[in-house]
Amino acid sequence: MPSTTFVDIWSSVIRLAIFSSVCGQLLGYSETDRVHDLMSRYPLIDGHNDLAIQLRRHHNNLLSQVDLHNLTSAATDIARLRAGHVQTQVFAAYVLCGAQEKDAVRLTLEQLDVIRRMCTEYGDMELVDSAEGLRNAETRHKIACVLSIEGGHSIDSSLPALRMFYQLGVRSMALTHNCNTPWAASSSGLYNYYPREKNSLTFFGQAVVKEMNRLGMIVDLSHSSWETARAAIRISKAPVVFSHSSAYAICNHSRNVPDWLLHELKRNRGVIMVTLFSDFVACKGRANVSAVVDHFDHIRKTIGAESIGIGGDYEGVLRFPLGLEDVSKYPVLIQELLRRKWPEQEVAGVLRQNFLRVFDEVERVRDELSLSPPSEVQIAPEEVEHPCRLVPLLPNTQHLSLAPSSRPPCFLWAALLLPASLLALH
Ligand SMILES: *[C@@H]1O[C@H](CO)[C@@H](O)[C@H](O)[C@H]1NC(C)=O
Ligand SMILES: *[C@@H]1O[C@H](CO)[C@@H](O)[C@H](O)[C@H]1NC(C)=O
Ligand SMILES: *[C@@H]1O[C@H](CO)[C@@H](O)[C@H](O)[C@H]1NC(C)=O
Ligand SMILES: [Zn+2]
Repeated sequence: MPSTTFVDIWSSVIRLAIFSSVCGQLLGYSETDRVHDLMSRYPLIDGHNDLAIQLRRHHNNLLSQVDLHNLTSAATDIARLRAGHVQTQVFAAYVLCGAQEKDAVRLTLEQLDVIRRMCTEYGDMELVDSAEGLRNAETRHKIACVLSIEGGHSIDSSLPALRMFYQLGVRSMALTHNCNTPWAASSSGLYNYYPREKNSLTFFGQAVVKEMNRLGMIVDLSHSSWETARAAIRISKAPVVFSHSSAYAICNHSRNVPDWLLHELKRNRGVIMVTLFSDFVACKGRANVSAVVDHFDHIRKTIGAESIGIGGDYEGVLRFPLGLEDVSKYPVLIQELLRRKWPEQEVAGVLRQNFLRVFDEVERVRDELSLSPPSEVQIAPEEVEHPCRLVPLLPNTQHLSLAPSSRPPCFLWAALLLPASLLALH
């Protein structure tokens, strides 16, 4: 029976080969495979991406000019979102602070339109407006898009405008960008809109936060001054987020969050979504992955891992840490958390569950407030007086009777002429 023996030996060899290959995989499983396995089970919800303003800047929002599957000029496209296990992206509708007192509302509508188009014209994406929608998109292997507004100047001090943005699907709004609004203070002194001594939230600003609670819109405190952030946290009935900010104790930039404010955030059960802009990660020099994870470690030590998420700010800034150049690189960051012995459950929280908890709670607060009527608080006219704001009260209002030649200028050119450095959005 020599042939049988040969077959037996041969099949043993094959079995041995299969066995050792399985062993090899087991041995090689440790790092990247573990990351991809974890991220497949808990795909990332990223808190902030500015692709829409790049579409405006480079393509005048003409979506037909680009292929979102492969945008080599940007750090974000569908192929790389997939590679980075990004399952949900909060996309920012951002308009330059220079549009404040001018056409901020129209420009915001146009940004919301282009995000809506991105997320409905591509089969890989799905526009969602609820935590349940976000979860359902995941089971369908879609990239969920959540609409957000970056900067309260977009509502032009109007709660009816805020409500209509909610109707359009906006589920999060940053109270300010780099400019004060008439009702909230920014962390930045870049613009001189509405200078104020008390660096906080006005009566109308408090009404904005309360109305966001009632509607079910997440209050985003990235870019707000710390005092405004504290006031908003104290007044909010729902958890808040910092959608793209890091730890001030690690890099002392005013866009980052100091420890005392982290403690306020913890009491609120909110989430800080650590951001990756190199200048906010490492105040000096080019940051790397290790410097980013120092922020995670600090916040975890200070207020716990359940308070942490990720908000990359891709497309919003120019410099990212070495190794984290685009949205496909998130697994590198997760690998470093695991290498520093973060338990998988805590990493799963950072990836998605902490943000989902906030979103669920924001919706629960909305449901609890469902019997409260829409707020009729209006900002005091003298707080918003400017040449481009028509006050349509009486037919003989001075604003209406101005002859065309005596109308004050109301153009956006100034914003478009800003130097490129101011276009860095942070
Ligand atoms: C993406 O586009 C570039 C040129 O625009 C091309 O060289 C590259 O092959 C494309 N990649 C994929 C994956 O289609
Ligand atoms: C931040 O820290 C550096 C030294 O680490 C210091 O020189 C600088 O003045 C600090 N900036 C602020 C705003 O505190
Ligand atoms: C990251 O940067 C720090 C500070 O520049 C440096 O000490 C460290 O070796 C770098 N780590 C890696 C993994 O490159
Ligand atoms: Zn920003």
